[in-house]
Amino acid sequence: MYYDYYAGGAEDQYTLKENVEAFHRINILPRVLVDVGKIDISTSILGYRTSAPLMIAPTGMHKLAHPEGEVATARAAAACDTIMAVSFSSSCPLEEVASSCNAIRFFQLYVYKRRDISALLVQRAERSGFKAVILTADTPRLGRREADIKNKMIAPPLRNFDGLISTDVVTDKGSNLAAYASATFDASFCWKDITWLKSITNLPILIKGVLTPEDAIKALEVGVSGIIVSNHGARQLDYSPATISVLEEVVEAVQGKIPVLLDGGVRRGTDIFKALALGAQAVMIGRPVLFGLAANGEYGVKRVINMLKEELELSMALAGTCTVKDITRGHVRTQHDRPL
Ligand code: FNR
Repeated sequence: MYYDYYAGGAEDQYTLKENVEAFHRINILPRVLVDVGKIDISTSILGYRTSAPLMIAPTGMHKLAHPEGEVATARAAAACDTIMAVSFSSSCPLEEVASSCNAIRFFQLYVYKRRDISALLVQRAERSGFKAVILTADTPRLGRREADIKNKMIAPPLRNFDGLISTDVVTDKGSNLAAYASATFDASFCWKDITWLKSITNLPILIKGVLTPEDAIKALEVGVSGIIVSNHGARQLDYSPATISVLEEVVEAVQGKIPVLLDGGVRRGTDIFKALALGAQAVMIGRPVLFGLAANGEYGVKRVINMLKEELELSMALAGTCTVKDITRGHVRTQHDRPL
């Protein structure tokens, strides 16, 4: 049941497949006879130095994968010099994650109808040393995840809300996740409400879930600090495009004014290379981290991150690029460039 919850996408799971396959349709164009004796894959994200252009995406309920939950994930992030985005729906309270290690953490936010609860969580995150807020914008309601409905997936209590709101929603419709989300999430939250979010925090705000140049421009207009091109790992609107297929249009609209990140379907170092070539500053990793966590806790997450880093380092050497800045648009060929 939990595997299905982690692995699954919405409805036909078209986008789930596409997120991965769209990467396969992009070629890398190597340059040979470049001095690649020394490769540096480090970069910075929102001014924070990280060992590689990858970070851990916010995913809910890590205790379904491992008894240590987000604490194990955060320790792996710290050990790998990587940033972790902690989900609003984490199994461990955010203060416990914060005190477990010195990983750089961003806090992912859903806005509840009870705005006071969302505001309180942002303020708790800020007090606990989180460095940015990631507003997830693609989830006014939960996508239809049929495996969870079939399995009657029940979310365990979410500890961030102890004493604030009951997370037990009883429903006879299979999974209680969608019922919980529609009871709590504020589906009326929109662009103009970013002003409210800015008024309750001094942290930089990133918007996660942008897939079009139009929305990228709106994000610039409301003055956020970054954009994450994401379709929520294909768990929300099925038949939304693969993230890598829209990245370049979004990057063009943003014109370098704020950083653009991407998640969805990143499974190899070559995928990270392709995303950087098309203009992403970094990528976020969702399911592979959860699977590493389920397989072997903190060590499993470290293995996943290190495998991706080693693959990226090798790809950069073979492509003739010594630093992430050396990776350019000319290093990839997409379907738009020339039929493959
Ligand atoms: C997610 N994702 C997610 N996003 C978010 O903003 N808040 C959340 O609580 C969650 N929870 C969540 C749970 C699970 C099980 C998955 C798989 C995903 C989406 C996540 O941040 C990210 O966008 C995708 O996981 C990226 O795609 P890949 O790497 O899983 O293909």
